Amino acid sequence: APGSPALTPPLGWNSWNSFGCGITEAQVRQAADTMVSSGMRDAGYQYVVVDDCWFDPQRDAQGNLRSHPTKFPSGMKALGDYIHARGLKFGIYQAPNEKTCAQGVGTHPGSTGSKGHEVQDARSFASWGVDYLKYDWCSGSGTRDEQIARFTIMRDALRATGRPIVYSINSNSFHAPTGDKYNWGEVADLWRTTEDLLDIWQNNNVNSYPMGVGNVVDITAPLAVQAGPGHWNDPDMLVVGRPGLSLTESRSHFTLWSLMAAPLMAGNDIRTMSADVSAILRNSRLIAVNQDALGAGGRRVRDDGATEVFAKPLSDGTVAVGLFNRGSGTTTISTTAAQIGVSGTNLTLTDLWTGGTSASSGAISASVPAHGVVAFKVTGGSPIQTTTSRLRGAGSNRC
Ligand code: DGJ
Repeated sequence: APGSPALTPPLGWNSWNSFGCGITEAQVRQAADTMVSSGMRDAGYQYVVVDDCWFDPQRDAQGNLRSHPTKFPSGMKALGDYIHARGLKFGIYQAPNEKTCAQGVGTHPGSTGSKGHEVQDARSFASWGVDYLKYDWCSGSGTRDEQIARFTIMRDALRATGRPIVYSINSNSFHAPTGDKYNWGEVADLWRTTEDLLDIWQNNNVNSYPMGVGNVVDITAPLAVQAGPGHWNDPDMLVVGRPGLSLTESRSHFTLWSLMAAPLMAGNDIRTMSADVSAILRNSRLIAVNQDALGAGGRRVRDDGATEVFAKPLSDGTVAVGLFNRGSGTTTISTTAAQIGVSGTNLTLTDLWTGGTSASSGAISASVPAHGVVAFKVTGGSPIQTTTSRLRGAGSNRC
């Protein structure tokens, strides 16, 4: 959104995928500690986001939100201080209607959504040192106009606090199984494009809950032109390292999210993650691609069914490319420099996973295992103007 503190996609960790409604203050502190000890902070991860269920089921006598008395006994200001003391930023969760999603489905009591309390709640967040708000629709009804109105009220309430707070919205909860194609760039810094992503490769029952990696990609890839500094498509938190994904699938998922300029919000229990999972999350070559200042959303330049090619132009005139194998057997996937918007015959391909380099006169090809990816940064050429400007989003309603 205009004036956004999210000029590159936000990087962080969110409590929901691993802890759900059971999240406690102690677990959030341990996650913050692990962000530092694992090297995630130094790799660029900033936000520690406490999702649903952190709050007392009752507001106080003045209508103020307060933290849950037994799960977050020290209060949210103290938690924010703890997170900030580790060089990290503090994220919190609320909802624009009467109930949060967990309240709506009955896993957390009360009706403490922000409806009618937006200014008061935004002031509470600012006073606690909140740097990021996830605002989650949580209602089976509501027209688009109502959604726009309610999400805009909180945007303005956050702005009125004077504190830079990244504004992350979700219009999809229990609401939009086919995904949300609306461009929320004037309202929020990032917006979810689908229902929840779980740790599955592909739900063959497309457009139904839950989403797998492939389902979310199919909905989000066509929205690439909407991405740019301060306004990001959010294909949901990472399921990297969650039990349902293999390491190969986690690498593919992380590569896709990096190329799509998606927020990278780890959702695994980072306190207990393996060295392999930690290494995936800290892949500095892919994080650099994701955080590139141009902010272009990677485009799917080839879709041959089970195999796909994504290309993301970068601010230095080079292009990152991913060769994805969604199918169940090893296969060779090929594209060309011209197809991804690069001219030149003396190119260098740097493998974004191994760091190894190879020379190319224009062919870009690799043998890719089932559910795997091979990704390169292509240097030594020049951007092809027409293709590159198309890849950069010319024709969208934003510059
Ligand atoms: C639905 C969202 O999509 C999830 O990410 C999570 O925030 C839950 N609501 C919390 O209830």
